[in-house]
Amino acid sequence: MKGVILAGGLGTRLSPLTRITNKHLLPVHNEPMIYYPIKTLINAGIEDIMIVTGGNSAGDFLKLLRNGKDFGLKHLNYTYQDGEGGIADALSLVEHFADDEAICVVLGDNIIEGNIRSAAEAYERQGNGAKILLKDVPDPQRFGVPELDGSRVVQIEEKPSQPKSSYAVIGIYFYDSSVFDVIKTLVPSGRGELEITDVNNHYINRGEMTWDELEGWWTDAGTFESLLRASNMVAESGANKV
Ligand code: DAU
Repeated sequence: MKGVILAGGLGTRLSPLTRITNKHLLPVHNEPMIYYPIKTLINAGIEDIMIVTGGNSAGDFLKLLRNGKDFGLKHLNYTYQDGEGGIADALSLVEHFADDEAICVVLGDNIIEGNIRSAAEAYERQGNGAKILLKDVPDPQRFGVPELDGSRVVQIEEKPSQPKSSYAVIGIYFYDSSVFDVIKTLVPSGRGELEITDVNNHYINRGEMTWDELEGWWTDAGTFESLLRASNMVAESGANKV
């Protein structure tokens, strides 16, 4: 399985911090935000990684990460997203890199306390389709929210005002190579983006979606509130424990 980190977008919710740099280069406690998703993939045994970035400080990723040596990697792959076409638009850029293999996609502003090794192994056994990870949260309306029927996901709604469960779909996804054909069928949402939630609903409608509940804390870091929370959680209890 190959790994993909999506670190494009303009990070406007963190302006002016993001006026002169990319959101994923901002500090979360004692490390740049992008370090955490890299460790999430490596701890799951995924070392063939592509980073999708964008904006006007993309070159700084190379300066910071170089070839991944600090993480014990032999190589890192990079690509560039023009504009802010959405998470699924950013993902479409890695089709050539994925080369028909399954992928694990991590959003560059998602940070976890533990690891996703057991979910990655379960997805390997699943063989095709997709897998998402869910977390019970106090503020589901900020996220993609699943409607559950027993252990089945019926559908996912993006930032619903009346959430149908208290779970968030976290920004770590497993897909087979058909994900790129799914993305080609999408149309931009109300916020002008190709939505990852629409990708996930395709897999649900095909009966090819499974989910696991993530253990340990999880947070995004894309707003002032969640960026502070992320730093505090990393400082208090550490992240990416193996
Ligand atoms: O954090 C989990 C949530 O992430 C999910 O629950 C939602 O379903 C999903 O849509 C997403 O919601 P956000 O609105 O919080 O996503 P955001 O626009 O903050 O983008 C998250 C990351 O995706 C961002 O750190 C970088 C990457 N991204 C985003 C966009 C819009 C890109 O690489 N390119 C983009 O154009």
